[in-house]
Amino acid sequence: MNVIKTTGLEYTYPDNTTALAGINFEAKKGEKIAVLGPNGSGKTTLFYHFNGLIQPTGGEIKIFGENIQKCNIDEIRRRVGLVFQNPDTQLFAHTVYEDIAFGPRNIGLSAIDVKSRVSQVLHRFDIENLAGKNPANLSGGQKKRVSIAGVVAMEPDVLVLDEPTSNMDARGVTDTMEILDELKDEGKTIIISTHDSDLAASWADRVYILNRGRVFRSGTPGHIFADEKLLAEAGLKHPVLVQTFREFHARGISKGEVPLSVLDFMESVDSLKVMDIRCAVAGCEISAGDEVRLELKDGMLVAGKGSNGVIGKAVFGANKGEDLAVKDVEGTLGQLCGNITVIRVPGITEGGSRAVDMEKVLGVINSNKNRKIGAMGTSAKVLANKMGIKCDIEFDVIQSSILAALRGFDVTILASGGMGERVIEKVREKRINCTSLVL
Ligand SMILES: Nc1ncnc2c1ncn2[C@@H]1O[C@H](COP(=O)(O)OP(=O)(O)OP(=O)(O)O)[C@@H](O)[C@H]1O
Ligand SMILES: [Mg+2]
Repeated sequence: MNVIKTTGLEYTYPDNTTALAGINFEAKKGEKIAVLGPNGSGKTTLFYHFNGLIQPTGGEIKIFGENIQKCNIDEIRRRVGLVFQNPDTQLFAHTVYEDIAFGPRNIGLSAIDVKSRVSQVLHRFDIENLAGKNPANLSGGQKKRVSIAGVVAMEPDVLVLDEPTSNMDARGVTDTMEILDELKDEGKTIIISTHDSDLAASWADRVYILNRGRVFRSGTPGHIFADEKLLAEAGLKHPVLVQTFREFHARGISKGEVPLSVLDFMESVDSLKVMDIRCAVAGCEISAGDEVRLELKDGMLVAGKGSNGVIGKAVFGANKGEDLAVKDVEGTLGQLCGNITVIRVPGITEGGSRAVDMEKVLGVINSNKNRKIGAMGTSAKVLANKMGIKCDIEFDVIQSSILAALRGFDVTILASGGMGERVIEKVREKRINCTSLVL
């Protein structure tokens, strides 16, 4: 079902600037859409239409199948939350708490409900420490976080975010995109604008490219970012991974589809070719032609004497600690990979980290001291923090954990709410041994 659909949408500002010149756009329920396009291409103007801030000067827009009218505009604004590009346009109260409370209060929620929504959102965005501060005195990235939190507090069905990650540091970007994923898991539709091709490639289900007030192209990230000519014409930067893939592809090392994540990229590499020249640290003295057994130790491929497991032939001799080339490998690196344990932490709406049996978590983590630990989602991170657990994996947790497992590490992931399911699904897709533990 389309939650937003525009047909030939046009908008000309009062000074006669035509910002939108016939846009056909649609967003389906539960989709994650990224809108890309150079400065002045019309992203912000388009987004203003999504919650009736401005009305088209031509064409049509339908929200939940209806035209925007006086009688339904309040309902539409409640269901479609818009986060402005510039947080200063949005933040106005004297404290962060009051700013976030304003929307829920305005739609007539009781004082108790307002309080619980605000505290939930402060927790989710990890900004409890900012509640008493004047928004005007926050840093750029903090302002952005608070302005997103204010809109999330309204619990809209569709979240429209105009450059949500601009001004944010790497931690802020990761946290924000994770929260958006969490909201998508709760059934919401998410539309963002961004100048970050890498982010759009790895995050979106569908991408729109705007140019001079028109849709230059739309499609899946796989299609859009695989099309070199299109990117050049649209003036878009190639994602770094795509560029690297092309270089590898041209040299015959990578094959298949354009990768949208480091994991996809690793899978595109022809491992047999690389295995022929792979250097491994010898575990003992080895002569040319010896059969060697490959193992992953501390994330490094090492070769020792042995004839079971993953085996290969030494190309030349080597002493302990020296590099070695191995050929004719039998077996795959997949056989050597580590296990992933997912500990499901209750999400924000289920009581968050407050509802957790910490002894049990510590028990699992302490059962193998050599594990790597990752945390995904606010309540999982808050829990890790509370328990003094130092996370080894903080960014891109699903992908980084799979990569770590592929290098032989065991990984424990604390994942909040619906994220747990997503992690397990992805890990199993990669045929990595996965155990899940519900708290
Ligand atoms: N209030 C306004 N009055 C007149 N023209 C405007 C107004 N706001 C935007 N425009 C013009 O409309 C066009 C589209 O601007 P818009 O802000 O929608 O672009 P954008 O894609 O969001 O750009 P950016 O990446 O810089 O945020 C531009 O040419 C801009 O100059
Ligand atoms: Mg803009």
